[in-house]
Amino acid sequence: MKKYNLIKLLSAIALTFTLSACTEDEKVEMKTTEVKTVEVKKEVQTKAPVEVNVSPSKDLQVDLGACKGCHGANFEKEALGKSKIVSDMTKAEVSASLIGYKDGTYGAAMKSVMVGQVSKYSDEALSNTGLGK
Ligand code: HEC
Repeated sequence: MKKYNLIKLLSAIALTFTLSACTEDEKVEMKTTEVKTVEVKKEVQTKAPVEVNVSPSKDLQVDLGACKGCHGANFEKEALGKSKIVSDMTKAEVSASLIGYKDGTYGAAMKSVMVGQVSKYSDEALSNTGLGK
């Protein structure tokens, strides 16, 4: 009888230890999760203002390097076989056409190609590309 009681007591103690160990483990896991959530939130907060700075600046100058693949190194080609030869246009015509593409008031069949090229620039930048004669 005594032996049986001792075994009972021992297993009760063992069970208590096991249970308390489990509870502590869970607590540790929960704490880890909380810390991770806070870190992620911090990252989002620091990234947000950077995105605002990425918005196009009014002073952004037209990147002529982006045009040459279609218009030629000296704007001497008919882009995609469709455009006028930009180097033969006057400066005023070039400015008017670029601003017109942005406003949706200028262009022929392939104007959507050019709208994508000029929409991020200010009218001032589009008037000062130096293109044309
Ligand atoms: C993907 C090819 C492509 C790129 C890149 C491109 N263009 Fe064009 N461009 C065209 C096409 C095609 C047209 C004619 C669009 C139309 O139908 O009105 C055109 C038209 C023009 C015109 C008016 C000529 C006309 O036919 O009335 C000017 C000026 C011009 N582009 C300047 C530029 C400048 C400046 C850039 C760079 C910022 C540029 N293009 C980038 C393809 C391109």
